[in-house]
Amino acid sequence: MSGGAHILSIEQFHRDDIETLFITADRMEPYAQRRKMTRVLEGAILGNMFFEASTRTRISFGSAFNLLGGEVRESVGTESSSLVKGESLADTARVLSGYSDIICMRHPLEGSVAEFASASRVPVINGGDGSNEHPSQALLDLYTIQKEIMARGRTIDGLRIAMIGDLRYGRTVHSLCKLLCLYERVRVVLVSPRELAMPEQYVEALQTAGHHVTITEELESSISSVDIVYSTRIQEERFQDRQQADLYRGRFRLNQAIYTRHCEPNTVIMHPLPRDSRAEANELDRDLDQNPNLAIFRQTDNGLIVRMALFALILDVAGIFENYAQDVRWYNPRIG
Ligand code: CP
Repeated sequence: MSGGAHILSIEQFHRDDIETLFITADRMEPYAQRRKMTRVLEGAILGNMFFEASTRTRISFGSAFNLLGGEVRESVGTESSSLVKGESLADTARVLSGYSDIICMRHPLEGSVAEFASASRVPVINGGDGSNEHPSQALLDLYTIQKEIMARGRTIDGLRIAMIGDLRYGRTVHSLCKLLCLYERVRVVLVSPRELAMPEQYVEALQTAGHHVTITEELESSISSVDIVYSTRIQEERFQDRQQADLYRGRFRLNQAIYTRHCEPNTVIMHPLPRDSRAEANELDRDLDQNPNLAIFRQTDNGLIVRMALFALILDVAGIFENYAQDVRWYNPRIG
Protein backbone atom coordinates (compact mmCIF):
# COMPACT_ATOMS: atom_id res chain seq x y z
CA MET A 1 0.00 0.00 0.00
CA SER A 2 1.59 3.28 -1.07
CA GLY A 3 0.83 6.87 -0.08
CA GLY A 4 -1.88 8.41 -2.29
CA ALA A 5 -3.36 5.05 -3.30
CA HIS A 6 -7.07 4.32 -3.65
CA ILE A 7 -8.30 1.52 -1.37
CA LEU A 8 -10.84 -0.31 -3.52
CA SER A 9 -10.27 -4.00 -2.83
CA ILE A 10 -8.56 -6.09 -0.21
CA GLU A 11 -6.64 -7.68 -3.11
CA GLN A 12 -4.35 -4.64 -3.10
CA PHE A 13 -2.85 -5.66 0.22
CA HIS A 14 0.18 -7.82 0.83
CA ARG A 15 1.06 -9.35 4.15
CA ASP A 16 3.71 -6.75 4.93
CA ASP A 17 1.14 -3.99 4.23
CA ILE A 18 -1.10 -5.56 6.84
CA GLU A 19 1.74 -5.67 9.37
CA THR A 20 2.55 -1.99 8.72
CA LEU A 21 -1.13 -1.06 9.02
CA PHE A 22 -1.58 -2.96 12.29
CA ILE A 23 1.57 -1.48 13.85
CA THR A 24 0.34 1.99 12.87
CA ALA A 25 -3.11 1.18 14.28
CA ASP A 26 -1.54 0.18 17.61
CA ARG A 27 0.14 3.61 17.74
CA MET A 28 -3.23 5.30 17.14
CA GLU A 29 -4.86 3.87 20.27
CA PRO A 30 -4.05 6.76 22.70
CA TYR A 31 -5.40 9.23 20.13
CA ALA A 32 -8.57 7.21 19.49
CA GLN A 33 -9.14 7.00 23.24
CA ARG A 34 -8.61 10.76 23.54
CA ARG A 35 -5.71 10.30 25.98
CA LYS A 36 -3.66 12.40 23.51
CA MET A 37 -4.52 14.46 20.48
CA THR A 38 -2.72 15.27 17.27
CA ARG A 39 -3.39 17.95 14.64
CA VAL A 40 -1.25 16.35 11.94
CA LEU A 41 -4.01 16.60 9.30
CA GLU A 42 -4.96 20.18 10.14
CA GLY A 43 -6.25 21.81 6.95
CA ALA A 44 -7.06 18.51 5.21
CA ILE A 45 -10.65 17.69 4.21
CA LEU A 46 -12.32 14.29 4.02
CA GLY A 47 -15.28 13.94 1.66
CA ASN A 48 -17.46 11.32 3.35
CA MET A 49 -19.90 10.24 0.62
CA PHE A 50 -22.37 7.64 1.78
CA PHE A 51 -24.99 6.86 -0.85
CA GLU A 52 -26.27 3.92 1.22
CA ALA A 53 -27.20 3.56 4.91
CA SER A 54 -24.38 3.33 7.44
CA THR A 55 -23.73 4.00 11.11
CA ARG A 56 -20.28 2.57 11.94
CA THR A 57 -18.37 3.04 8.72
CA ARG A 58 -19.46 6.62 8.08
CA ILE A 59 -19.11 7.86 11.64
CA SER A 60 -15.84 6.07 12.31
CA PHE A 61 -14.22 7.30 9.09
CA GLY A 62 -15.35 10.83 9.95
CA SER A 63 -14.22 10.54 13.57
CA ALA A 64 -10.88 9.04 12.55
CA PHE A 65 -10.21 12.00 10.29
CA ASN A 66 -11.25 14.49 12.98
CA LEU A 67 -9.01 12.77 15.52
CA LEU A 68 -6.05 13.35 13.22
CA GLY A 69 -6.93 17.04 13.03
CA GLY A 70 -8.75 17.07 9.66
CA GLU A 71 -12.22 18.30 8.73
CA VAL A 72 -15.10 16.28 7.30
CA ARG A 73 -17.71 17.18 4.66
CA GLU A 74 -20.55 14.70 4.23
CA SER A 75 -23.16 13.70 1.71
CA VAL A 76 -25.65 11.15 2.98
CA GLY A 77 -28.13 9.30 0.76
CA THR A 78 -28.51 9.41 -3.02
CA GLU A 79 -31.73 11.41 -2.75
CA SER A 80 -29.89 14.41 -1.31
CA SER A 81 -27.20 14.43 -4.02
CA SER A 82 -27.38 15.39 -7.69
CA LEU A 83 -27.00 11.74 -8.65
CA VAL A 84 -30.84 11.73 -8.58
CA LYS A 85 -30.77 14.34 -11.37
CA GLY A 86 -28.83 12.00 -13.60
CA GLU A 87 -25.31 13.22 -12.84
CA SER A 88 -22.74 10.51 -13.53
CA LEU A 89 -20.42 9.05 -10.91
CA ALA A 90 -17.48 10.34 -12.97
CA ASP A 91 -18.73 13.95 -12.94
CA THR A 92 -19.56 13.65 -9.24
CA ALA A 93 -16.02 12.43 -8.60
CA ARG A 94 -14.45 15.28 -10.59
CA VAL A 95 -16.45 17.79 -8.56
CA LEU A 96 -16.04 16.30 -5.09
CA SER A 97 -12.34 15.65 -5.51
CA GLY A 98 -11.92 19.38 -6.00
CA TYR A 99 -13.37 19.91 -2.52
CA SER A 100 -11.53 17.13 -0.67
CA ASP A 101 -8.07 15.70 -0.07
CA ILE A 102 -9.40 12.16 0.31
CA ILE A 103 -12.84 10.60 -0.16
CA CYS A 104 -14.62 7.68 1.51
CA MET A 105 -17.56 6.38 -0.43
CA ARG A 106 -20.31 3.81 -0.03
CA HIS A 107 -22.73 3.01 -2.84
CA PRO A 108 -25.25 0.19 -3.42
CA LEU A 109 -23.86 -0.86 -6.83
CA GLU A 110 -20.96 -3.27 -7.22
CA GLY A 111 -18.02 -1.60 -8.92
CA SER A 112 -19.42 1.91 -8.37
CA VAL A 113 -16.63 3.03 -6.04
CA ALA A 114 -13.96 1.91 -8.53
CA GLU A 115 -15.81 3.81 -11.29
CA PHE A 116 -15.91 6.90 -9.07
CA ALA A 117 -12.23 6.53 -8.16
CA SER A 118 -11.16 6.35 -11.80
CA ALA A 119 -12.37 9.95 -12.24
CA SER A 120 -11.25 11.23 -8.83
CA ARG A 121 -8.20 13.45 -8.44
CA VAL A 122 -7.72 12.38 -4.81
CA PRO A 123 -7.49 8.94 -3.08
CA VAL A 124 -10.80 7.11 -2.64
CA ILE A 125 -11.53 4.49 0.02
CA ASN A 126 -14.26 1.93 -0.67
CA GLY A 127 -16.71 2.04 2.26
CA GLY A 128 -18.74 -0.78 0.69
CA ASP A 129 -19.94 -1.24 -2.92
CA GLY A 130 -23.07 -3.38 -3.08
CA SER A 131 -22.36 -6.98 -2.21
CA ASN A 132 -18.85 -6.78 -3.63
CA GLU A 133 -16.34 -5.61 -1.01
CA HIS A 134 -15.87 -3.73 2.24
CA PRO A 135 -12.08 -3.63 2.59
CA SER A 136 -11.77 -1.44 5.69
CA GLN A 137 -14.20 -3.75 7.54
CA ALA A 138 -12.05 -6.77 6.65
CA LEU A 139 -8.96 -4.94 7.90
CA LEU A 140 -10.56 -4.08 11.24
CA ASP A 141 -11.94 -7.61 11.48
CA LEU A 142 -8.51 -9.12 10.95
CA TYR A 143 -6.96 -6.65 13.39
CA THR A 144 -9.55 -7.77 15.94
CA ILE A 145 -8.98 -11.44 15.16
CA GLN A 146 -5.23 -10.99 15.66
CA LYS A 147 -5.66 -9.22 18.99
CA GLU A 148 -8.22 -11.70 20.28
CA ILE A 149 -6.45 -14.89 19.34
CA MET A 150 -2.96 -13.68 20.26
CA ALA A 151 -4.37 -13.20 23.75
CA ARG A 152 -5.32 -16.89 23.56
CA GLY A 153 -1.83 -17.96 22.42
CA ARG A 154 -2.73 -18.48 18.76
CA THR A 155 -1.88 -16.82 15.44
CA ILE A 156 -3.75 -16.06 12.23
CA ASP A 157 -1.69 -18.77 10.53
CA GLY A 158 -3.58 -21.89 11.57
CA LEU A 159 -6.78 -19.95 12.36
CA ARG A 160 -10.08 -21.83 12.55
CA ILE A 161 -13.07 -19.67 11.64
CA ALA A 162 -16.78 -20.24 10.95
CA MET A 163 -18.57 -17.63 8.80
CA ILE A 164 -22.30 -17.82 9.25
CA GLY A 165 -25.38 -16.32 7.61
CA ASP A 166 -25.75 -14.48 4.32
CA LEU A 167 -22.46 -15.32 2.65
CA ARG A 168 -23.80 -14.55 -0.83
CA TYR A 169 -24.55 -10.86 -0.35
CA GLY A 170 -22.40 -10.14 2.72
CA ARG A 171 -19.52 -8.02 1.43
CA THR A 172 -17.64 -8.16 4.72
CA VAL A 173 -17.12 -11.91 4.44
CA HIS A 174 -16.09 -11.57 0.79
CA SER A 175 -13.30 -9.17 1.74
CA LEU A 176 -12.37 -11.24 4.78
CA CYS A 177 -11.99 -14.40 2.66
CA LYS A 178 -9.64 -12.55 0.32
CA LEU A 179 -7.64 -11.25 3.26
CA LEU A 180 -7.29 -14.69 4.84
CA CYS A 181 -5.69 -15.87 1.59
CA LEU A 182 -2.54 -14.00 2.70
CA TYR A 183 -2.14 -16.42 5.63
CA GLU A 184 -1.40 -20.12 5.99
CA ARG A 185 -3.28 -23.26 7.06
CA VAL A 186 -6.60 -21.53 7.73
CA ARG A 187 -9.65 -23.75 8.26
CA VAL A 188 -12.85 -22.03 7.13
CA VAL A 189 -16.35 -23.36 7.75
CA LEU A 190 -18.98 -21.62 5.61
CA VAL A 191 -22.45 -21.93 7.12
CA SER A 192 -25.39 -20.59 5.12
CA PRO A 193 -28.62 -21.58 3.42
CA ARG A 194 -27.70 -23.08 0.03
CA GLU A 195 -29.30 -20.11 -1.75
CA LEU A 196 -27.06 -17.69 0.19
CA ALA A 197 -23.84 -19.66 -0.15
CA MET A 198 -20.44 -18.03 -0.50
CA PRO A 199 -19.85 -17.24 -4.21
CA GLU A 200 -17.56 -19.75 -5.89
CA GLN A 201 -14.79 -17.22 -6.58
CA TYR A 202 -14.14 -16.74 -2.85
CA VAL A 203 -14.25 -20.48 -2.12
CA GLU A 204 -11.78 -21.06 -4.94
CA ALA A 205 -9.51 -18.29 -3.66
CA LEU A 206 -9.42 -19.89 -0.21
CA GLN A 207 -8.70 -23.31 -1.66
CA THR A 208 -6.02 -21.94 -3.99
CA ALA A 209 -4.35 -20.43 -0.94
CA GLY A 210 -4.19 -23.96 0.49
CA HIS A 211 -6.92 -23.45 3.09
CA HIS A 212 -9.35 -26.13 4.19
CA VAL A 213 -12.95 -25.15 3.36
CA THR A 214 -16.11 -26.85 4.62
CA ILE A 215 -19.53 -25.83 3.28
CA THR A 216 -22.56 -26.70 5.36
CA GLU A 217 -26.09 -25.68 6.39
CA GLU A 218 -25.69 -26.99 9.93
CA LEU A 219 -24.79 -24.51 12.67
CA GLU A 220 -24.09 -26.50 15.82
CA SER A 221 -21.42 -28.88 14.48
CA SER A 222 -19.74 -25.96 12.63
CA ILE A 223 -19.02 -23.90 15.72
CA SER A 224 -17.66 -26.70 17.88
CA SER A 225 -13.96 -26.49 16.93
CA VAL A 226 -13.24 -22.94 15.82
CA ASP A 227 -11.39 -19.93 17.23
CA ILE A 228 -13.80 -17.42 15.70
CA VAL A 229 -17.53 -17.53 15.09
CA TYR A 230 -18.21 -14.72 12.59
CA SER A 231 -21.96 -14.19 12.31
CA THR A 232 -23.62 -11.99 9.66
CA ARG A 233 -27.02 -10.46 9.02
CA ILE A 234 -29.31 -11.43 6.14
CA GLN A 235 -28.67 -8.53 3.72
CA GLU A 236 -32.33 -7.85 2.97
CA GLU A 237 -31.50 -4.69 1.02
CA ARG A 238 -29.79 -6.84 -1.64
CA PHE A 239 -32.87 -9.00 -2.33
CA GLN A 240 -35.00 -8.00 -5.33
CA ASP A 241 -38.04 -9.07 -3.33
CA ARG A 242 -37.37 -8.16 0.31
CA GLN A 243 -39.95 -10.71 1.47
CA GLN A 244 -37.61 -13.41 0.17
CA ALA A 245 -35.24 -12.43 2.97
CA ASP A 246 -37.90 -13.55 5.48
CA LEU A 247 -37.24 -17.12 4.38
CA TYR A 248 -33.72 -16.97 5.82
CA ARG A 249 -33.96 -14.57 8.75
CA GLY A 250 -33.46 -16.32 12.07
CA ARG A 251 -32.12 -19.49 10.45
CA PHE A 252 -28.79 -19.39 12.32
CA ARG A 253 -29.22 -17.98 15.80
CA LEU A 254 -26.46 -17.97 18.34
CA ASN A 255 -27.35 -17.50 21.99
CA GLN A 256 -25.59 -18.27 25.27
CA ALA A 257 -27.17 -21.72 25.63
CA ILE A 258 -26.04 -22.79 22.16
CA TYR A 259 -22.61 -21.25 22.77
CA THR A 260 -22.19 -23.09 26.08
CA ARG A 261 -23.34 -26.38 24.61
CA HIS A 262 -21.32 -26.35 21.37
CA CYS A 263 -18.39 -23.91 21.44
CA GLU A 264 -14.96 -24.27 22.99
CA PRO A 265 -14.78 -22.09 26.13
CA ASN A 266 -12.72 -19.28 24.57
CA THR A 267 -14.33 -19.08 21.14
CA VAL A 268 -14.49 -15.45 20.01
CA ILE A 269 -17.84 -14.19 18.72
CA MET A 270 -17.69 -11.55 15.99
CA HIS A 271 -20.17 -9.79 13.72
CA PRO A 272 -19.56 -6.81 11.41
CA LEU A 273 -22.77 -5.24 12.73
CA PRO A 274 -25.46 -4.14 12.56
CA ARG A 275 -26.82 -7.30 14.10
CA ASP A 276 -30.51 -7.74 13.34
CA SER A 277 -32.09 -7.72 16.81
CA ARG A 278 -35.68 -8.09 15.63
CA ALA A 279 -37.34 -11.14 17.17
CA GLU A 280 -37.66 -12.92 13.83
CA ALA A 281 -33.91 -12.60 13.16
CA ASN A 282 -31.83 -12.23 16.32
CA GLU A 283 -28.74 -13.88 14.84
CA LEU A 284 -26.70 -12.88 17.93
CA ASP A 285 -28.90 -12.92 21.01
CA ARG A 286 -28.61 -10.13 23.58
CA ASP A 287 -28.00 -12.79 26.24
CA LEU A 288 -24.47 -13.04 24.80
CA ASP A 289 -23.74 -9.43 25.78
CA GLN A 290 -22.24 -10.48 29.12
CA ASN A 291 -20.07 -13.12 27.49
CA PRO A 292 -16.45 -11.83 27.62
CA ASN A 293 -15.73 -13.57 24.32
CA LEU A 294 -18.26 -11.37 22.50
CA ALA A 295 -15.90 -9.08 20.57
CA ILE A 296 -18.44 -7.09 18.53
CA PHE A 297 -17.88 -3.79 20.33
CA ARG A 298 -14.12 -4.32 20.43
CA GLN A 299 -14.46 -4.62 16.63
CA THR A 300 -16.20 -1.24 16.41
CA ASP A 301 -13.57 0.38 18.65
CA ASN A 302 -10.83 -1.17 16.53
CA GLY A 303 -12.53 0.24 13.44
CA LEU A 304 -11.62 3.72 14.58
CA ILE A 305 -7.90 3.04 15.01
CA VAL A 306 -7.59 0.99 11.83
CA ARG A 307 -9.26 3.79 9.85
CA MET A 308 -6.98 6.37 11.49
CA ALA A 309 -4.03 4.23 10.43
CA LEU A 310 -5.36 3.99 6.86
CA PHE A 311 -5.61 7.78 6.62
CA ALA A 312 -2.15 8.23 8.11
CA LEU A 313 -0.59 5.82 5.60
CA ILE A 314 -2.49 7.08 2.55
CA LEU A 315 -1.79 10.73 3.38
CA ASP A 316 1.80 9.93 4.34
CA VAL A 317 1.81 11.12 7.95
CA ALA A 318 2.31 7.74 9.64
CA GLY A 319 5.90 8.64 10.42
CA ILE A 320 5.15 12.06 11.90
CA PHE A 321 1.73 12.16 13.58
CA GLU A 322 3.27 11.65 17.02
CA ASN A 323 5.42 14.79 16.48
CA TYR A 324 2.15 16.73 16.66
CA ALA A 325 0.94 15.11 19.89
CA GLN A 326 -0.62 17.28 22.58
CA ASP A 327 -2.23 16.57 25.93
CA VAL A 328 -6.00 16.78 26.06
CA ARG A 329 -7.47 19.56 28.15
CA TRP A 330 -10.92 18.20 28.92
CA TYR A 331 -12.23 15.61 31.37
CA ASN A 332 -11.75 12.20 29.77
CA PRO A 333 -13.79 9.42 31.43
CA ARG A 334 -11.23 6.88 30.15
CA ILE A 335 -8.45 8.44 32.26
CA GLY A 336 -10.38 10.47 34.86
N1 CP B 1 -20.21 -2.82 9.49
C1 CP B 1 -20.76 -1.81 8.80
O1 CP B 1 -20.44 -1.58 7.62
O2 CP B 1 -21.69 -1.09 9.48
P1 CP B 1 -22.49 0.15 8.92
O3 CP B 1 -23.36 -0.36 7.79
O4 CP B 1 -23.28 0.69 10.07
O5 CP B 1 -21.49 1.14 8.37
